[in-house]
Amino acid sequence: MPSDRRSVLITGAGNGIGRATAALMAERGWVVGVNDLKEEFAAETVRRIREAGGEAFPVVQNVSSREGIEAAIAAVVDETGRLDGLVNNAAWVRYQAIPEIAPETVERMLNVGFTGIIWAIQAAAAAMDDTCGGTIVNVASAAGFRSAPRSLVYSGIKAGVMGMTRAAAVELGPRNIRVNAVAPSAIPTEGTEKHRSAERDAKRIAATPLQRLGTVDDIARAIGYLLGEESDFITGQVLSADGGIGIAIN
Ligand SMILES: NC(=O)c1ccc[n+]([C@@H]2O[C@H](COP(=O)([O-])OP(=O)(O)OC[C@H]3O[C@@H](n4cnc5c(N)ncnc54)[C@H](O)[C@@H]3O)[C@@H](O)[C@H]2O)c1
Repeated sequence: MPSDRRSVLITGAGNGIGRATAALMAERGWVVGVNDLKEEFAAETVRRIREAGGEAFPVVQNVSSREGIEAAIAAVVDETGRLDGLVNNAAWVRYQAIPEIAPETVERMLNVGFTGIIWAIQAAAAAMDDTCGGTIVNVASAAGFRSAPRSLVYSGIKAGVMGMTRAAAVELGPRNIRVNAVAPSAIPTEGTEKHRSAERDAKRIAATPLQRLGTVDDIARAIGYLLGEESDFITGQVLSADGGIGIAIN
């Protein structure tokens, strides 16, 4: 018997934005498949959700391969009998100047952040119900619109994710599967810790109309909005969650 609660797979949910999104969706009554490459990270997210009274289970898979993401989606369907949502959040990121870019870096970043999403959309679309449909949210980045030095690969991938979002939305719309993306600005997380400094943060805050850095919970709420029924008639969109930095002339 399928669960009467909606289920969602969130990739890379053992940290940062993925972990905050997992917590929010569990709070909203969804059953959450917490994917991460690292077992201890996924386990910690699941522990926190259960402690707060939510329902979640770990899905330890490397989603950079087709087999990995297919197994992750199958795990959610096995556990809950259904798949209502997918958040493609996992990423592996290196910033490198153009002369330093190495083939291994490009391959790894592409596999997690781009090719893996193709297979994820394919597998999720196959698993989602033809009548009820489902929702897919891709985590893009402000770097898909604008860029900084050392971001050739990252910006290229995130712009590509935006293109995939629109293409999937057009093709899957007739099955009531909505596909959208969220584009966060720089958000303090484990993954971005090493790229931050007090000086950079101060500059960012000054350039941001809302005069603060974003948090993982800010981004989780944007993702949650696109996953849930409040955004029922919205598909193929990229929602910037950036405090307005992207629309300001600095
Ligand atoms: N934090 C930011 O400033 C920021 C800004 C814009 C966009 N984003 C995007 O948001 C997403 C999340 O970023 P974050 O900063 O929260 O990341 P993070 O580095 O804090 O966490 C990412 C998680 O993904 C997991 N992961 C990595 N590769 C994986 C794989 N192959 N399979 C399964 N799990 C894997 C990691 O173990 C980690 O737990 C990414 O897509 C990132 O590009 C982040």
